[in-house]
Amino acid sequence: MTAHTFRTASEEETIELGRELSRSILPPRGLVLLTGNLGAGKTTLVKGIAEGRGAAAPEEVSSPTFTLIHEYGDPPRVYHVDLYRLEAARQAASLGLDELIDLDALVLIEWGERFPELWPPDRVEIEIRREGEDQRVIEVRSR
Ligand SMILES: Nc1ncnc2c1ncn2[C@@H]1O[C@H](COP(=O)(O)OP(=O)(O)OP(=O)(O)O)[C@@H](O)[C@H]1O
Ligand SMILES: [Mg+2]
Repeated sequence: MTAHTFRTASEEETIELGRELSRSILPPRGLVLLTGNLGAGKTTLVKGIAEGRGAAAPEEVSSPTFTLIHEYGDPPRVYHVDLYRLEAARQAASLGLDELIDLDALVLIEWGERFPELWPPDRVEIEIRREGEDQRVIEVRSR
């Protein structure tokens, strides 16, 4: 297990951190679970990661709260999933996330911790904590 801790003080700094992570410690493909409260900055970080992967500009990345899955890049290099509104693991399981995780793409999932039984152990976890109005502590853990 390796862990890295970062701090940001604005939305723009979190986007920049996402760009840097996408070019350094994030793997080329596979599962990334993003955890943190409502408004922590999970979607904001994805904006930078998608840009760093050359998949989308930050302003093209929006929360997949209702659509559940957004894909960026052609062919898709980044999938962004939000499971906040799902009620049961059964619904999450029917989205075909297993197949996404096997693709040659990064699969970033918000609120995945609601369904811990669904995830393979081989993954990265990014936890975002609020430490004030604009301060965030961002911890990246991987096996
Ligand atoms: N340092 C920071 N990093 C990220 N966002 C910040 C920061 N400071 C303030 N913000 C604000 O916090 C909010 C983060 O929203 P965002 O949609 O990224 O959160 P989220 O974790 O995806 O929430 P949800 O669980 O509702 O999807 C934005 O309004 C952003 O402007
Ligand atoms: Mg979000």
